[in-house]
Order: sequence, then C-alpha cells, then structure tokens
Amino acid sequence: MSSKLWGGRFTKSAEEWVDEFGASISFDQELVLEDLQGSLAHVTMLKQCSILPEEDADQIISGLKSLQEKAEKGELTFKVEMEDIHLNLESMLINEIGPVGGKLHTGRSRNDQVATDLHLYMRNQTKVIVELINDLQEAILEQAKKNVETLIPGYTHLQRAQPISFAHHLMAYFWMLERDKQRFTESYKRINISPLGAGALAGTTFPIDRALSAELLGFDGIYENSLDAVSDRDFAIEFMSNSATMMMHLSRFSEEIILWSSQEFQFVELDDAFSTGSSIMPQKKNPDMAELIRGKTGRVYGNLTGLLTVLKGLPLAYNKDMQEDKEGVFDTVKTTVGSLKIFAGMISTMKVKTDVMEKATKNDFSNATELADYLASKGMPFRKAHEVVGKLVLFCVQNGCYLVDLSIEQFKEASELFENDIYDALNPYEAVKRRNSAGGTGFAQVQLAIEKAEKLVSK
Ligand code: ARG
Repeated sequence: MSSKLWGGRFTKSAEEWVDEFGASISFDQELVLEDLQGSLAHVTMLKQCSILPEEDADQIISGLKSLQEKAEKGELTFKVEMEDIHLNLESMLINEIGPVGGKLHTGRSRNDQVATDLHLYMRNQTKVIVELINDLQEAILEQAKKNVETLIPGYTHLQRAQPISFAHHLMAYFWMLERDKQRFTESYKRINISPLGAGALAGTTFPIDRALSAELLGFDGIYENSLDAVSDRDFAIEFMSNSATMMMHLSRFSEEIILWSSQEFQFVELDDAFSTGSSIMPQKKNPDMAELIRGKTGRVYGNLTGLLTVLKGLPLAYNKDMQEDKEGVFDTVKTTVGSLKIFAGMISTMKVKTDVMEKATKNDFSNATELADYLASKGMPFRKAHEVVGKLVLFCVQNGCYLVDLSIEQFKEASELFENDIYDALNPYEAVKRRNSAGGTGFAQVQLAIEKAEKLVSK
C-alpha cells in the first residue's frame, strides 16, 4: 500500500522522481496561513452543524492553532512525499493530535480547499497592491505639486510638439494608476466569494452550512454552482490582467524616465539609490530599476498568457493542470509589489532639472501652433494659418534660426495680421498658460487636477 493520505486504493508507491514532478509543495507553501485559516473555518462550521462532535472539533481547532503558531514562526518543515500544502498540513495535524485529525476533511475536498486558499490569498494581495498604487500616486502628486510651472517639451511621435507643464505630464500617470486602482478594487467583489463546501465537484451529503463558513472567512457570498466553484480561476486571470495593465503603465513611465535621464535629454537625474554603475565604464550611471520594471512587465504578461492557456481546453471540473495556476500568480504578486515600491522611491527622490527642461522648450519649433492659433483667432481660416506658419518654419530651418528670431517685418510679410504681440504668443510660458481648456496643460487646469487628485489618495 502507498503511504499517501489517499493511498488506500494503491498497491505501490510512485517513485520519488514521479512524486517530485507531481508535487506543488515547493511553491504552494506560500498558502500555508490561508490553508490553516480555511481549515479553521471549515471545522468550526462542522462543529456548529453538529457534523463533528464538539470534543473532536475542539481538538482539531487547537491542533490547527498550534500549527498556525509554528507557521508564523517559520517552524514547519514540509515534505515532498506529502505532495502539497493541504496534505502536508493534514498529516501534520494527525501527527499532532492523533487520528481524530483525520476528521477535518469531512465534507470537503482538496478541490474546494485549494480554491478557497487562492481566494483568500488574492484577497489579501489585492489589498496590498491597492495600498501600494496609492503610495505611488502620492509620490507622483508630490513631484507634480512642485512642478506646476515647470515647462517641458510635449512630444508626439517622439518629436517635439507643444510645450506643457511637467506636472501635467506626471499627472497623466496619476490618472492611469487611478484606473488601475479602480480595476483592482472592483475585482475584489469577484474574489471575495467562497468556493468552500463545493466538495470535489458536486457538493456533499453532509448537512454543511456554506454560508456559515463563508461568513467565518469574511467572504461576501458563496459560489452558486459547485462545479463552477472548483473550476473557476477567472479571479486569478482578472488579477493578472489588472496587473498586466498596471505594469504596462509602469513600463511606459519607465521608458520615459530612461529617456529623460539619458545624456541626450538630461531632464531628470535619478537618485544614486535607484541607479547602478558599470563594471568597466567609470562615468556610467544606469537607470537599472526603471529598465528592470520595463523588463519585468514581460513576465507579468507571460503569467497572464500562461494561465489563460492552461485553462482554455480544460473540461469541468478540477484537473491537475490547474495546479499550474499558482506560480504565475505568486510571481505576478511579487513582481507588481516590488515594482510599485521601487517606483514610488524612484519618483520621490528623482531630481528634476527644470533649467534643462525649460531651455528645451525654447530652442525648438514647439511654439508653431501658437502662431497658427494667433492667425486663426484673428479670422484667418486655420488651414490657411497652418500653411503660412509652415512656410515661416521652413524659412527658419533653411536660415538656421527659430520663430522668435524673426523680425516683425518678416512676420508681416507672411501675413498682415501679425502685430507686435506675436512675441508674447511665442513665449512657451504663455503658450502653456493659455491652454486652459478642461483637462489641458494650462497652469490653472493643472492646479485644479492636482486638487481633485488629492481627494483620491488616502493618506
Ligand atoms: N495541489 C493541488 C493544486 O494545486 C491541490 C488540489 C488537488 N486536488 C486533486 N484532486 N488532486 O491544484
């Protein structure tokens, strides 16, 4: 007979290397506290429903609590022969309190057990991530508040387009993260549902009270269908999809920080604590953390694609394939938590080189739209104005100057509508200030956005 907890039907044991291939304990030990929490709720429910005699249930409860204490101190040693976290803990319980420990699994299966553990885990991690997004938003907000009137070239196609407020640029990421935060928060209601009591797939003959165990675990409700309860991993997919979107935002932000800290831009300088040197080139200061976050976005996408692929061909209900859900989820948590923490530190310590940024807004043609708008506001059709200014830009390019360098006579030659106030219009500070349409980069608008944003971050 096999030595396994499920060994009754077997005449021989699997070889060690086969056991190893099937085991998940090397990674699902991450769920140790969730598994114990789930078991405690289950046995409490069994007791209250008089499915187990009080005395037996109490023994199990104290055994589980002692395992909990040991787990918290990191004193439990898991065995590969015991396959996974569920069987490891069950056999430890039996060792601790004797055969009565074997009554814990009454009316339960590892299939609803593992699903319960994962729901509890995702619930905790979702809260952690929401908090960390909030921290990063605060860091962005602090930098933004200091840079409302700092000018930076705004780009499209990575070509200078129009000058903007640096705070406005930073705040774009604040709002992306706000949506990320909403997505994680909204997903919580689908995570916080109890599969416990679904059994292996069909429910159980014992008169269990699923609502009670759900309540004991702080779930908001129970799965309506036992097959769905044990087969569903949508909540994990949703979590990884939300993480993928958030990482995509961090990756784009990273890319900008990498560009900005390059010799070519020199718009920001990252703190030494978030940079590294080169082993050969003494002058180097590399934005490694930003690069790593950009890189790690790939593994988060991979985890999402991995689980979607694992699930796509699975018949109902549980299949061992589903054991493959966990590593991707754990890795996604570790990666997003790490990236968010690093990012907040990187942003709050980043030195903004306002003088370089502002200089950049002067030595270019990003004020050309101002000129076209100037003519349009004096009645010239915008299309025509665009053409007039386009010709002036071409003239400047051919003569090695900028628009501000042209004399009023030269402007008037292009159009009689130009007056002396054209030079104010060409000033990037004025250009930014005037873009006061809702959500625009005008300083008043940026200030308003910052005030709105401040109400959205919990201090
Ligand atoms: N280790 C398994 C997993 O992670 C637990 C559920 C196993 N259930 C079973 N019937 N083999 O999915």
